[in-house]
Amino acid sequence: MLWTLLKKIFFSLDPERAHYLSMNLLQLGLKIPGISNWLIQSWKFEHPALQQNLDGMVFKNPVGLAAGFDKDGRWLHLLQQLGFGFIEVGTVTPKPQSGNPKPRLFRLVKDQSVINRMGFNNNGVEALAKRLSEFQKHKNVLIGGNIGKNKDSSNEEAAADYLKCFHALHQYVDYFAINVSSPNTANLRALQDKEPLMQLLIKLQAANQNYPVPKPIYLKIAPDLNKEQILDVIDAAIQSGIQGLILTNTTISRPDFLLEKEKAKEAGGLSGKALSSLTTDIIKTVREANSTLSIVGVGGIFNGNDAVQKLNAGAQLIQVYTGMIFEGPWMVKKIKKELVRMK
Ligand code: FNR
Repeated sequence: MLWTLLKKIFFSLDPERAHYLSMNLLQLGLKIPGISNWLIQSWKFEHPALQQNLDGMVFKNPVGLAAGFDKDGRWLHLLQQLGFGFIEVGTVTPKPQSGNPKPRLFRLVKDQSVINRMGFNNNGVEALAKRLSEFQKHKNVLIGGNIGKNKDSSNEEAAADYLKCFHALHQYVDYFAINVSSPNTANLRALQDKEPLMQLLIKLQAANQNYPVPKPIYLKIAPDLNKEQILDVIDAAIQSGIQGLILTNTTISRPDFLLEKEKAKEAGGLSGKALSSLTTDIIKTVREANSTLSIVGVGGIFNGNDAVQKLNAGAQLIQVYTGMIFEGPWMVKKIKKELVRMK
């Protein structure tokens, strides 16, 4: 298998380098006529049973790319060909920022998981808006804009940061994801507390309603909230009138079952297989408490079975990130095929 060989090569490199190299190589492959056709055909799989309608949007399929994979919208042409039903760009901040010192991404191979402490490295919202505007005429997939705040903006200044990103992207994206749950920006997660959260969401919703076509807004939360905090989040989401929740971001917890004990000591957010059941439990908790909010399930999805677990728990859509690192770009087609088979 081609992926087995490529994985050997990429896994011998630093994870962050491997990410850029693999994506740039695939993007290059799409520019070479014979290879391009072969790649596109090898990723192609569509089926009417996969269509999902949610909050006024029509998704060709429920499998999305999670935030952080293409923060700056560098690879949209390529990602569109991989067969995603939607692609979430960002997290983007108003000003460009370089993120935390490297290394900041670690593979826990035996656990099929990774730890990252990237720290919102991105080129800033203006650069992303420019890329999205250039992509507009080729766009054949739904795009979400995941927005955050700069590291040097205090939580009191946070709403202004989110609003800046919101306005800059509004005409280019189909929905927004509000990220208050990255563990790698100091204090960011305090914005999940009921009062600041309510204020932030109300401001964003008010800005949204001033547009002729308001965009659906989803809030992305951490899997480390307790039941009471989750109920507060649901309350804030309902009262502010946003459409739903993205469940979940990475966890700061380190489950006992992790095999890579040394790597697990790295600071940052854990994602992949080790996150899977934690996320599914959060989806169940939210769904049991509320039947109306839309839910996007994300955490440790590597195959159709994992996707079905999230959907059965109450999600309408799913997203993947770490699975792409371990299973490669053909994973999207595999999940879609398995979903059709399991329908
Ligand atoms: C992420 N994730 C993330 N989420 C987000 O809202 N904004 C971001 O910028 C990032 N950045 C990021 C970088 C890296 C390297 C990873 C691995 C993850 C979290 C991601 O979108 C997702 O919520 C979690 O990774 C859980 O899904 P998986 O990876 O287990 O499929």
